[in-house]
Amino acid sequence: MNSKHVKIFDTSLRDGEQSPGASLTSAEKLEIARNLARMGVDVIEGGFPAASPDDLEGLRRIAVEVGNPPPGESEFSAHVPIICGLARANKKDIDAAWEAVRSATYPRIHTFLATSPIHMRYKLRMDPEEVVERVREMVGYAHSLCSDVEFSPEDAGRSDPEFLYLVLGEAIKAGATTLNIPDTVGYTTPDEYGALISGIIANVPGAENVTISVHCHNDLGLATANTLAGIMVGARQAEVTMNGIGERAGNTSLEEIVMTLHTRRGVFGLETGIDTTQISRVSRMVSNYTGIPIQPNKAIVGANAFAHEAGIHQDGMLKNQQTYEIMRPETVGLSRSRLVLGKHSGRHALKVHLAEMGYDMTAEELDRTFERFKQLADKKKIITEADLEALVEDQAYQSHEVFSLDGLQVACGTMGMPTATVRLRGPDDTLYIQASVGTGPVDATYKAIDMIIGSKSKLLEFNVHAVTEGIDAIGEVTVRLQGENGIHQARTSPQSEQIHLRTYGGYGADTDIIVASAKAYLAALNKLLRSTQHEQAAEIAA
Ligand code: KIV
Ligand code: ZN
Repeated sequence: MNSKHVKIFDTSLRDGEQSPGASLTSAEKLEIARNLARMGVDVIEGGFPAASPDDLEGLRRIAVEVGNPPPGESEFSAHVPIICGLARANKKDIDAAWEAVRSATYPRIHTFLATSPIHMRYKLRMDPEEVVERVREMVGYAHSLCSDVEFSPEDAGRSDPEFLYLVLGEAIKAGATTLNIPDTVGYTTPDEYGALISGIIANVPGAENVTISVHCHNDLGLATANTLAGIMVGARQAEVTMNGIGERAGNTSLEEIVMTLHTRRGVFGLETGIDTTQISRVSRMVSNYTGIPIQPNKAIVGANAFAHEAGIHQDGMLKNQQTYEIMRPETVGLSRSRLVLGKHSGRHALKVHLAEMGYDMTAEELDRTFERFKQLADKKKIITEADLEALVEDQAYQSHEVFSLDGLQVACGTMGMPTATVRLRGPDDTLYIQASVGTGPVDATYKAIDMIIGSKSKLLEFNVHAVTEGIDAIGEVTVRLQGENGIHQARTSPQSEQIHLRTYGGYGADTDIIVASAKAYLAALNKLLRSTQHEQAAEIAA
């Protein structure tokens, strides 16, 4: 199947969510899935449904709401992505995956089993013959439920190629339509990985009738290079995550693959269905929701990726942009410093502009956004797309809250103790007020919030960044924290079966950085609270 189209399979919500610290609520996953679909992703791997009833339900919602055409449209007039669920090679997992994805227009079951000597011996405790038999049975079982089945020989990068050919040939006979070749531990080099893919294409009977997919991890920083090496020799699906999030050093990043194929069309002669102008926005959304910051020098989406600061560069840039720029920032959606609206702009202008930016709002949401827009325009004369985006993201965050910020006052400086007085609105609409001192204004604020909520958590990360330049810029804060009884909210990796303590990310934006910090902390605490309540309810029911 050697077309010119490379399918983009996004696994931010599955492999990406296996990153230490990235745990998303079902509502956040749904929102990200919506935006991945809008960006033109071909396949969304939305989770590992056997992990828990919540994971299954989360993916089922994605299948229903993102995996079907919007009302009034058909799968021919709208882009409808394939919705995929991961399953280990056993009936229980495959049933859960099918249950989760079956209501999508294009459902897919993705099942996997390890094929490397080390995994077969120590993890599976199976001999190679048993592995072949299990693949036959379980791919066949998945195929009896769903016509679109993907099979992955886990740790293919360290597997014996001859054994891989045998296993993959059996998977095709049993009904697999996509063969995904994971370099699970990011061990291979581009030459080796490219040779592995071309060996599979040449030696597996029936390989020409299925899609060969590449799935690389970044332990040696080679994930993008390896993925491109696989594509170069004939793979036509790339498994990627936004910002390259994923277990350990992460997965291949979507933006790097898409922009390499786009920018170097002359080398590859291939295309993807991605609307590249959406990349920056979706990247920030994933970072804000997961609480995983993007390193400033990250290719394509890092804050410095399009900044040309050194004098000599600027001079060259002014003469001809191509001296130091191989991509235009607009191509990845970075025209955000554009002035868009002002103090006198009306509700309709805001609505039109938000729709252009891709935000479809109900009348009620628009009312709330308009009110906040007016408050912002009073403080800040120039409102840019970046400001609007921070405002909308912040509002989306705050609307899921159990406790919300109702008031905050801080005193700080070099004289006296930093003190914060915090007023929160609780779930029953009650107002709670507390004051605390701390090592600084943020610490005092967080202590006062903890006193009200009675929460015990450990703050793991705190990041601040300005959305636009200037003294009146909106500040964005992301935090990550862990519940003290973290073992309660543990998650099991489908692969290593190791338990990760769950962490919770929160995001807040405001022209006042202490207010943004309070909102971000509350957002993360609210997630922790909901997940603890959920688990307690499940324990009582059990
Ligand atoms: O890295 C890996 O092996 C995986 C498989 C489950 C596809 O993520
Ligand atoms: Zn993986």
